[in-house]
Amino acid sequence: MSNAWTYTATCQTLGLTNQMEWFRTQWDQAAEAFDPAGDWLPTEAQAAEYCAWIGMTDEVSRLVVQGVREVRHKPALVMLAWQYYWAMFLPAAIRPWTPVPWFMLPPAPPEQDFAGRMFQAVVILSGIPRYRTEHAARGIPEKISRDNLLGIELWMHNYRQRFGQWGFDRGSWLANHITDRLVRMQRLEFGLSRFAFGFTLLRERCGEHRVVALADSGLRLRQDGRYQNAQGTPADDPGWGTYLMGNEKTITGYPVVEPNVVAREPVTLDLSQWEVVLQAGDPVLDIHIPARGKMDIAACDESFAQAMTFFPRYYPEHVFKAFTCGSWLVDPQLAQQMPGSNMAHFAQRYHHLPADGANDGQVYDLGLGGRCPLDKAPKDTTLRRILVEHMGKGGQWWYTNGVILREECAATAGGHRRLPGV
Ligand SMILES: CC(C)(COP(=O)(O)OP(=O)(O)OC[C@H]1O[C@@H](n2cnc3c(N)ncnc32)[C@H](O)[C@@H]1OP(=O)(O)O)[C@@H](O)C(=O)NCCC(=O)NCCS
Repeated sequence: MSNAWTYTATCQTLGLTNQMEWFRTQWDQAAEAFDPAGDWLPTEAQAAEYCAWIGMTDEVSRLVVQGVREVRHKPALVMLAWQYYWAMFLPAAIRPWTPVPWFMLPPAPPEQDFAGRMFQAVVILSGIPRYRTEHAARGIPEKISRDNLLGIELWMHNYRQRFGQWGFDRGSWLANHITDRLVRMQRLEFGLSRFAFGFTLLRERCGEHRVVALADSGLRLRQDGRYQNAQGTPADDPGWGTYLMGNEKTITGYPVVEPNVVAREPVTLDLSQWEVVLQAGDPVLDIHIPARGKMDIAACDESFAQAMTFFPRYYPEHVFKAFTCGSWLVDPQLAQQMPGSNMAHFAQRYHHLPADGANDGQVYDLGLGGRCPLDKAPKDTTLRRILVEHMGKGGQWWYTNGVILREECAATAGGHRRLPGV
């Protein structure tokens, strides 16, 4: 190998340990293709132009440019950036291996120098030329392409709030945007994804058009019908397994009877009366809710309405069948306990399905500001008081998976015609 920056030398120089293991087998192939004079890594002038194009403030643009300058002065970091670039942004024909698992981006803790703290932002920036070309080829309005990357600046501010100095550590999230897997539409973000919630949804062909969710084969559930690895599963719970069986006439499986709970008794549905409307692998739009101000009902309606026209126009190959969302914000208990609130309205949009490994982690992280004993938990907002009170009475909050069928989302206003069913 011609380049001095072998896997071992790079990891040693940068102090990286096992989180880089994934690269070990691919490293040399990418390193062989490395051109130190190549134009894949932005120059300072290019970085400034990208920042201006995105619409970043001058202050943050200057920091990003400084980050590029400092990364460029560290050959080991340049090689590492190339490894990501090679995996993420080159066509699959040149890069015959699977995309980098982005959670493996080297961490950017505050004790690192500025180059280390800005490394992830520099990697994201290196994808901008390809991103712009692809969006232009699809005819996507430039404003949407630009707004889609505003998260770089937002997360730099967030980093500063957390650590008291500038940096950027959400490359794994922005990677979804820069590789065209996630698009911001006003209040919400929509990811191009495939249905993988472990259930098959059917809709009645006539009458009320009820919706039923049947567990796919092979789910491991506990006695009460929740996932066996859900929070609070007793160690001695023997668990049980699901199956889904069908032929041209009928389908038999275990239905979701209430949110997060699958019935122990299977049902058989007549396919002349029921139609499969969503199953594993179907294209879907997966929803994300950035922590950015309130989540007004009208703003969410507008996001749905835009998505309903944007994706068919610019990503016609992704014929999505539903919107999906996995979140603490989908837990229908929020709707029951905070009627009329934005959060209640959001949760009520969905059909609720149990989530694998459901727990209350996000309730603490995103609702209570971090894990803490209940008697010390903050109670300064309605939500926080409700969260704490419920848990104080022995209740649990559940990370829940939600589905909105495409047909339930009216194309014009984004409002919903939610069909009956869990
Ligand atoms: C989603 C979110 C924007 C909802 O905020 P919202 O529009 O203000 O929600 P509501 O109007 O329904 O809020 C009702 C009450 O709960 C409070 N509340 C809402 N979200 C809160 C949060 N994350 N932490 C503390 N309190 C919160 C509100 O302040 C309000 O209380 P108040 O009447 O005493 O002022 C907000 O929770 C948020 O930013 N969350 C972080 C992002 C997130 O969770 N994403 C999903 C990841 S999967």
